[in-house]
Amino acid sequence: MGYTQEMTESINKVEAARAANTALEPRRMTAEEKDKLLEEYHPDYKSKEFELLKMGPNKGEKVPHELAAVLQAHSRISGKSIDLSNPDYDVDVLIIGGGGAGTSAAIEADNNGAKVMIATKLRMGDANTMMAEGGIQAADKPNDSPAIHYVDAFGGGHFAAKPELLSKLVCEAPEAIQWLNNLGVEFDKSSDGTMITTHGGGTSRKRMHAAKDYSGAEIMRTLRDEVLNRNIPVVDFTAAIEIIKDDKGAAAGAVLLNMETKEILVARAKTVIIATGGAGRMHYQGFPTSNHYGATADGLVLAYRAGAKLLYPDSLQYHPTGAAYPEQIFGALVTEKVRSLGAKLVNVNGEVFMHPLETRDVAAASIIRECSSRGNGVHTADGIGVWLDTPMIELKNGEGTIEKRIPAMMRMFAKYGIDIRKEPILVYPTLHYQNGGVDISADGMSGVENLFVAGEAVGGIHGRNRLMGNSLLDVIVFGRNAGKHASAKSKDVNVGKLTLDHVSAFEKELAEAGIETELVSPKLLPVYTHGNPRFEAKNF
Ligand code: FUM
Repeated sequence: MGYTQEMTESINKVEAARAANTALEPRRMTAEEKDKLLEEYHPDYKSKEFELLKMGPNKGEKVPHELAAVLQAHSRISGKSIDLSNPDYDVDVLIIGGGGAGTSAAIEADNNGAKVMIATKLRMGDANTMMAEGGIQAADKPNDSPAIHYVDAFGGGHFAAKPELLSKLVCEAPEAIQWLNNLGVEFDKSSDGTMITTHGGGTSRKRMHAAKDYSGAEIMRTLRDEVLNRNIPVVDFTAAIEIIKDDKGAAAGAVLLNMETKEILVARAKTVIIATGGAGRMHYQGFPTSNHYGATADGLVLAYRAGAKLLYPDSLQYHPTGAAYPEQIFGALVTEKVRSLGAKLVNVNGEVFMHPLETRDVAAASIIRECSSRGNGVHTADGIGVWLDTPMIELKNGEGTIEKRIPAMMRMFAKYGIDIRKEPILVYPTLHYQNGGVDISADGMSGVENLFVAGEAVGGIHGRNRLMGNSLLDVIVFGRNAGKHASAKSKDVNVGKLTLDHVSAFEKELAEAGIETELVSPKLLPVYTHGNPRFEAKNF
């Protein structure tokens, strides 16, 4: 299998301790222990990895260096003359992004009778939604309530969520599940038709609804079908590179770039929804990522240059269990559901070192501590990790559980000769989610009139850490919300004269701030020409 001698010896220890470890009930950390752990080991607390923005709506605030570089970069249209007088597209609602939030928004805007168009830089469904595995939370069981869901998520997010956003998320969750169910999502159900629900890290009730461990793919499949069935126009391989405003300062469309022909196109719209997703491909601090290829923080750049403020742009989520071996799947998501089903995290000596369902930031920091100062990591040929002892799942729940509940995990590792029913798998934190993003109000609108934002590009729904399953939920709840409000608003909008003056003003501010950069943004696609990011990773 290509295991190092250290890995083989360690696996022997894990196997010897498995029965006892399966029965073990590890204690939860105290609040003080968690705070200390995060401060010492979580990547968000490494001050040298951040800098203060020199310009724009968040001037003076802290962001990762990689994000500062794209927020304070030149526009892709600088020096180009763009003819705004004869738009290529003219719609009521322009949606930028074809993932879960963008498609949900499109369906609701279409329900409202609006003329909608989706522009997406890859294809509809090439998005983090498609890659989501473990499930979607909703408090729809008799022992649960949106209030309990709120308390779990608010605490898990360090009490930093915007109350009106989190309240909308949890209160509209049960209806979101019904909406998806009615559209055709094949949720896991027991023989009487009730939804099967499990725990996630930081949940006090079992409220994770899933479609095995390809929940996001199942949801995205359904949403994409719905958009196609309704004949909602989708312009694919076409990225938004600048928001267009009108002479009243409201968002009024976007400059689009055909990714294949490089043709510049103009879309005029009464309202615009940014639903461009996350930022894993920014590889903050050199981390690998579980994200799809297009996750390059574009929405943050578009909104920032248009004048919208960001909330918590310094807060990222490192999923505790990215694959650390084999290297072909380095950084790929190993769903938290593996731990929900009973697998525990075990160090090189075969010792369980934490409760498997601590919140994600705490779990990630705990793994990093085990692999660094405690010296209890397992070394591969060129990396490090800890074991996630998957055979415990079948010891606890019976044979066949893995194939039934997490078949995608089983297949992902089987491709490389690893049978997760019999062997543990090696994991290490991977960049998974941007907690921060554009600041919105409860109707989904940013600080720029008629510019709405939905999905992972939003900041503040979850605070400074997100619980498992609340992202699939937020793309549905806030995607639909943005679609409803943007389409309603479009009915009262008279678009003024189109302008890109804000882009020229931004360039002027860049010069006045003394920022010298060759970089243009949004980034649109990651650049791997200098080698695989794994080998550039600073944290290995
Ligand atoms: O672990 C997971 O399945 C990830 C879920 C999420 O980010 O919500």
